[in-house]
Amino acid sequence: MGESQTLSDLLPSFDHTALGVHLEFERMGNQQVSDDLQAQAIAHGARFEHLGLTLGTIIHDVDLQAAPTVELTQFLRNTLLERKVIFFRDQHLDQDQHVAFARQFGELDAFPFGKPGSDPYVLHIEHGPNSPGRENGFHTDVTWMERPSLGSVAQILVVPPYGGDTLFSDSHAAYLGLPDELQAQIENLYGTNDYRYFAKEPLADVPFGVDHPLVRTHPETGKRALYIHGGFLRHDSLYDATTGEALDPVASKKIVTKLLAQHGRPEYTCRFQWQPGSLAFWDNRAVQHYAASDYYPHERVLRRLTIQGDRPV
Ligand code: SIN
Repeated sequence: MGESQTLSDLLPSFDHTALGVHLEFERMGNQQVSDDLQAQAIAHGARFEHLGLTLGTIIHDVDLQAAPTVELTQFLRNTLLERKVIFFRDQHLDQDQHVAFARQFGELDAFPFGKPGSDPYVLHIEHGPNSPGRENGFHTDVTWMERPSLGSVAQILVVPPYGGDTLFSDSHAAYLGLPDELQAQIENLYGTNDYRYFAKEPLADVPFGVDHPLVRTHPETGKRALYIHGGFLRHDSLYDATTGEALDPVASKKIVTKLLAQHGRPEYTCRFQWQPGSLAFWDNRAVQHYAASDYYPHERVLRRLTIQGDRPV
């Protein structure tokens, strides 16, 4: 055994039970939605179809094109908070309707890396024969922002003939499922995120490098979540926020590698198959997502809006 390697590096314990799912479900009262939320669904004539135990629900029988009542918006927000990602079928919102829908939940965030001349509040994620999909790693959106988006609202515009599903992973369950010693180790750790993936040079008005905790507390539910983006976090940048002390870069990368494996475990995920007119609304503070890039060389187009969020703590 090399000097820097411990037995637990060579033979890491493997949690076959995906304990985090069980703990999260228990915290949810061993039911997929609360009695109160179920009653709200009935009152709105809506029907739930759950795609996973602790996350992911299709809400049927609501029309997002019609002007929503305050009560309906509240019902959708409550469902998002309990189920972390919600879906709708057959909505076919035009851009204005899509914007109006998302605006019920907050101001929109601008995305500075869209095509020149495009509306910064409306991102088209387009892939085809010349640009295979690149969103195929579990991530939560825009962690390079000081206040990453609360949530993202995406409608599919072009559905490929096969593939192109989006998978979502429960960041609360993922956190609860980490071994106790790893939870303790990352308790106070922060790391630096930047947008080198999109631009090599810093933009004048967007900070290049913001620090976020590896564990964040959801501002509305109070639940702790594993919060990490493998493409934006500088893997060698972890430091202890209570002492300001930086970790040795090798140790930092080792922790990041362990954590990045967690969201990908299938037990923490649900999978959404897009159909024409489908819309997804995910809570970036509670889930990560992964767009399967398995439809090449076909075209897939998604229109995504992001809603302003808080600084993670
Ligand atoms: C993303 O927001 O990262 C992409 C989601 C998708 O294309 O399904």
